[in-house]
Parts: sequence; structure tokens; C-alpha cells
Amino acid sequence: MENRLKKMADAARSALRGASDLEELEETRIEYLGRSGILRELQQGIRDVAEELRPRVGKLINRTRQELEKIVEERRRELEEQQVYERAEENRIDVTLPGRSGYIAGRHPLMATLDDMLEIFLGLGYNIAEGPEVENYYYGFEALNYPPDHPAMDEQMTFYLGENTLLRSQTSTVQIRVMEQQKPPVRVVVPGRCFRRDTVDATHSHTFHQLEGLCVDEGITMADLKGTLIAFGRGMFGEDTRVRFRPDFFPFTEPSAEFAVSCFACRGEGENCRVCKNSGWIELGGAGMVDPNVLANVGYDTERYTGFAFGVGIERFTMNRHGIPDMRLLYSGDMRMLRQF
Ligand code: PHE
Repeated sequence: MENRLKKMADAARSALRGASDLEELEETRIEYLGRSGILRELQQGIRDVAEELRPRVGKLINRTRQELEKIVEERRRELEEQQVYERAEENRIDVTLPGRSGYIAGRHPLMATLDDMLEIFLGLGYNIAEGPEVENYYYGFEALNYPPDHPAMDEQMTFYLGENTLLRSQTSTVQIRVMEQQKPPVRVVVPGRCFRRDTVDATHSHTFHQLEGLCVDEGITMADLKGTLIAFGRGMFGEDTRVRFRPDFFPFTEPSAEFAVSCFACRGEGENCRVCKNSGWIELGGAGMVDPNVLANVGYDTERYTGFAFGVGIERFTMNRHGIPDMRLLYSGDMRMLRQF
């Protein structure tokens, strides 16, 4: 009996110690120590042992059970620990892999351009003003000295929301609103969205942005307008930038001009230049001396005050600046494009 017990204990020890995972350990434990396991069988065999030896054998069986249970516990702890390591190994983070970095939003190129422009005018002592995108006929056209039959008011050019309600087609509307609110001297720049019934293509959009400028005071002349736009051109493109004025017409300025700056890419040379298409110039917008009729419409004394105004298109210039070939890219929200800025 004792021999069988020893043999059994030897086998159990090595089987338990050799269990390669928790499942196998549990199976082995049941096999030897379970309710109908080998040890229990031996225990029941004690009936066949001589009476005087029974206490001794009984003790031996108990001790063996205790010892084996201890081995089970030890092995279980070992295997559990091992499992933790194995799992950790499986889920191991490879710190040498290139990271997936988050994307930090940036300024939209249109807004960045606008900000650069505003910066220059803030430096010249201008304030920033804004006005509504939905306007009425008075602010949209009448107060700006448009004659009643002007083609710009045509439904073909302007979006009408109702009889007397429209989407502004230029930021010049805000000139009137600003002057109604304050007496001269006035020095404001007005960034804003404008709307025209243009067919969308690579160089046109029904929605676009302008920066309007307005300066009214005593003794303001065309020379001030030129000086201001030259300062603007140089601020944007560098000190050797030249500014060109050519006659134009707007109902709310007289005289009126369109203005352009020498190309920043070819420095005005105009040879093999994709940016200015070999013209040497980049057109920025319209300008002129505020028509006295406009000043009168807001109740300014036209004998005392004169002023100039200008409007710069933001889209075309942004495209020139960054070599963006299609205006639609500016509104696409396509991250492949936007992430480049
Ligand atoms: N509002 C004009 C345009 O949209 C530009 C302009 C502004 C012209 C101010 C003169 C004075 O073309």
C-alpha cells in the first residue's frame, strides 16, 4: 500500500509539475485529487490494510494530499504568471513603428490670405467692420448710386430672396452701413462673403470673398488712395512691388480704377511666368474716390469730406499665391488639399 502510494505520489508530482497550461493542470488535479480521483481510490483501499498500520497509512495519505495540493497551487501560480507574460507579449506595442499622429487643424488658405491683408490695414490704423450678407435694395444698390436700370441689379447677376431682399454681390454695401453709423474720419476694412449668379468653373464661384476698404476724412485725395494701395502691395509682396492703376467704372466711385500689383513670382518681368500668365501683373480689384452722391446719401457734408474706397478679391489672389489651379478646390473641404497649408 505504501509503495503504491509512493509511486502514485511520484507520478502525480511530475504530472502536476509538468502541466503545460492551466487546463492540463486542472485535468491532472482532478485525475489524482478529484472526488473520484486516484488518491481517493487509494484512501478507500485502506480497508484492506492491517489495522495497526492504518493510522500510519492514513497520515501518509493526508500528507500526500496536502503536498500535492501545494504543488497544484505552486504550479497554478507559475502558469498564471506565465499567461500574463504571454498575453503581454501578444499585445506588445512596437515602439519602433511610425506613429499615427493626430491632425491639427490649420487656417483655410482663403482665411490666411485675408488675415495677412487685414494685418496690413490694421497697421495703417484701419478698423475692421462687418455687415449682413442678406441685404435690401437700398443698401445693395440704391445708396451706392446705381441707376434704377443698372445691369448689375438684373436677376441674371444677383440672387434675389424676395422683391426687396437679395444676397449682397459686393462688400461695398457695408460702406453705407458704416457711414450711417459714424461720422468722419472713417477708416475701415470689411472682409466678407459675396454672391453672384456666376456659373461655377475653375475661375468662378457663386460665393466668394472680398475685402473692402473705406477712408473718408477732410482733404482725402486720389494720392492717398494710391499711397494706401502701394503700402498694401508692398506689405503683401515686398518693397519692390509696383502698383498699376487703370481707368474703370463703378457707380459709387468717381473717378474709378482697377488696380494690379507687379507679379510676385516674376517680379513683373512677365517672362515664362505661370502666375501672371506672362503679363507681369496680378489684378487685385477695383478702387476710386467715393462718389459725392454716396456721401450725400449717408448725410455727409460733401463740401467738407472726400474719401476713397477699394475692393480686393480674395479667391483669385489666394489661387495666384499658392498656385491653386481651380477655385472649386477652395470650397471642396478636401483634406488632401487643405493639409498642404
Ligand atoms: N465693389 C467693387 C467690385 O466688386 C470693387 C470696388 C470697391 C470698386 C470699392 C471701387 C470701390 O468689383
